Amino acid sequence: MRAAADISARAHTKTMCFAQPDISEHVLAAHFEYLCAREGSQRPAYVPVIASGANALIIHYTANNQLVRDGEMVLIDAACEYNGYASDITRTFPASGSFTSAQAELYGAVLAAQKHLVGLCSVSTGHSLAQLHRLSCDALGAELTRIGFELPLGAGTLDTLYPHFVGHPVGIDLHESSHFDRNEPLKAGMVITIEPGVYVPPLPQFPKHFHNMGIRIEDEVLVGEDHPVVLSVNAPKEIADIEGACQGMLGLEPF
Ligand code: GLY
Ligand code: MN
Ligand code: MN
Repeated sequence: MRAAADISARAHTKTMCFAQPDISEHVLAAHFEYLCAREGSQRPAYVPVIASGANALIIHYTANNQLVRDGEMVLIDAACEYNGYASDITRTFPASGSFTSAQAELYGAVLAAQKHLVGLCSVSTGHSLAQLHRLSCDALGAELTRIGFELPLGAGTLDTLYPHFVGHPVGIDLHESSHFDRNEPLKAGMVITIEPGVYVPPLPQFPKHFHNMGIRIEDEVLVGEDHPVVLSVNAPKEIADIEGACQGMLGLEPF
């Protein structure tokens, strides 16, 4: 699983570098899958989501047939299968190589929540995946309020902006397994994804400068007794690292 995540993480990094305005989403999909295959992956773990601009608001967008526009972000949820094991990684990056200030603000909010949640993926916290989901709603709610969203109080508040669960176990299958109980405390040795996201429709109750932005950050996390290990660590997620990858400054060729 480390090898699968590592191959996928490198493909994410190089695809950030390869991407540019006016490229087609399907070319990015093909490039990502080529990079994985060249490193020994037998097949993609799932049909990739390559969603530029407002397409990122469609959670299971797989048409991947639009042109990437200058100034937009690109959300890529893509990963390989390697020797029977799946991987599952999402990154969101700016097509031009630099986030706008509004994009960076929203990205920073999702990143802060995602990193907080990753830090809770150990047996010692006693959390279940269901508890982590509730905590993801709390963390995203606090972050979005901090950057100017006016969220009504109460359950279900975030459903429009964050309409999916925080994560799932991953292993031989992308979504494991039929025996998994979301309410049981996490166990050492499990690998789970942590994938909070925010998708802002152009509705008047949301700040206009965030309209039509969709951001998800998804890592694969190996649950330890006392601390988590992030298997997808080689896919950049800090703003400076993403911009560095996009601008070809990490010393990697895009091919
Ligand atoms: N790529 C599918 C998922 O994130 O669950
Ligand atoms: Mn996932
Ligand atoms: Mn995914």
